[in-house]
Amino acid sequence: MKDILQELETRREVARTGGGERRIAAQHAKGKLTARERVELLLDEGSFEEFDMFITHRCVDFGMNADKPAGDGVVTGWGTINGRQVYVFSQDFTVLGGSVSETHAQKICKIMDMAMQNGAPVIGLNDSGGARIQEGVDSLAAYGEVFLRNIEASGVVPQISVIMGPCAGGAVYSPAMTDFIFMVRDSSYMFVTGPDVVKTVTNEVVTAEELGGAGTHTRKSSVADGAFENDVEALLEVRRLIDFLPLNNRQKPPVRPFFDDPGRVEASLDTLVPANPNTPYDMKELITKIADEGDFYEIQEDYARNIITGFIRLEGQTVGVVANQPMVLAGCVDIDSSRKGARFVRFCDCFEIPILTLVDVPGFLPGTTQEYGGVIKHGAKLLFAYGEATVPKVTVVTRKAYGGAYVVMSSKHLRGDFNYAWPTSEVAVMGAKGAVEILYRSELDDPDKIAARTNDYEDRFANPFVAAERGFIDEVIMPHSTRKRVARAFASLRNKKVTTPWKKHDNIPL
Ligand code: HXC
Repeated sequence: MKDILQELETRREVARTGGGERRIAAQHAKGKLTARERVELLLDEGSFEEFDMFITHRCVDFGMNADKPAGDGVVTGWGTINGRQVYVFSQDFTVLGGSVSETHAQKICKIMDMAMQNGAPVIGLNDSGGARIQEGVDSLAAYGEVFLRNIEASGVVPQISVIMGPCAGGAVYSPAMTDFIFMVRDSSYMFVTGPDVVKTVTNEVVTAEELGGAGTHTRKSSVADGAFENDVEALLEVRRLIDFLPLNNRQKPPVRPFFDDPGRVEASLDTLVPANPNTPYDMKELITKIADEGDFYEIQEDYARNIITGFIRLEGQTVGVVANQPMVLAGCVDIDSSRKGARFVRFCDCFEIPILTLVDVPGFLPGTTQEYGGVIKHGAKLLFAYGEATVPKVTVVTRKAYGGAYVVMSSKHLRGDFNYAWPTSEVAVMGAKGAVEILYRSELDDPDKIAARTNDYEDRFANPFVAAERGFIDEVIMPHSTRKRVARAFASLRNKKVTTPWKKHDNIPL
């Protein structure tokens, strides 16, 4: 009996050392933690329950039968984050470069199946040289199995990917289908074809970091949702994100204890909007002043900064925020912000997270770049996402809500539940200057007449009351009371139920 216990301990010890001390030291020398160190940091202390520690691959080609590391390059299992269950896989670069074999993928699939069955998020820590070259097509088939589960799990349990090393070739498509991708600066990259192939095919000379590093994917491509300095910071941010999310699509998001008075009045908001309608102000100030304890978890902070997306809590309950940012492109909606906003709205809707929309939008961004790039189709994504969302929707117009963009930004016409406006708001088909230039084209060479016409138009339309008279705005509220009004609105919507016509699925313009 003692011998068997001893053998178990020995086998465990061997599995835990992964690719051995030399490779672990090499991993550390790159500023990277090992697969197990990452799991330890991600999960509550002592909560990790491992699966399949002793699995080995079945490949016999290229001398592989003499090299069968226990666990086959990925650590899998479940544990808790602040007491709530999550499933995790963590690729071990020290074992055959974290490459994906048939059995490596089977381990990932097993925890994904369990996550879907038991209703808990999947967190993937990616650090892999890609398909296990010795296994060839078996490895590709194995990736296919993971992809299929990513698709099945989408909208059922939250899926979060952290890229903590290489992630290249077709392997990128597993994280790409998850809800959020985080990357670690300087030690992770994602690309479909690497710098060498790019050089051969297009003659472009580019480093791995430039082609697919965290900066590229959070600023240019929008593939990633956040970039962090090192493994520790990235893992702690995943813990913070999980605290905002429900465990699955059948549960409500968690309710946290809160110490911030829901009725808190913010006098400073009464002067947030400048007197000059063309002067920008920082919409993030409004978000943090509405949020419990000023806590705002921003998603895609560095991409399409003319729209802000992220999570706050109100009375301890998670709320997704979408807000125009007047400081960037005057808050115009364009291709990138439409895609960013639409994806966020759809995430919130599939996981029952209510949506708060803060509106200051002068319209869609004009220009050939936008039209040739398909702003019609991309703008439709945001419109479609808001219209189909059945979660509680509360909207506050702070200043401009012009034209088509007004309708898009969670207006009453798209089943907004509460549509509030500040007294400073202008709900209109366009700004006064543009309107007068069209209506009174023949008077354009007379500045006095045009000024008078502009004043008239402003008096008539540059306010929230025309829309309020029609019921498109439910109430004009004082800026200082926004937190209280919004919190009460969401509280009244907690049992909201909407039925929609049967369909297999919709056909959102992709
Ligand atoms: C088997 C691999 C491997 C792989 C790395 N290793 N990638 N073993 N299959 N795909 C092994 C190495 O042999 C080495 O073993 C150890 O992992 C560490 O690799 P190094 O090259 O020493 O590390 P480093 O210098 O940091 O370079 C990392 C790397 C490089 C850039 C990822 O290893 C690399 O280019 N690997 C091949 C990448 C690749 O072409 N993958 C297939 C892509 S196709 P030892 O024993 O020396 O420690 C693909 C398709 C997916 O992924 C399709 C899905 C549908």
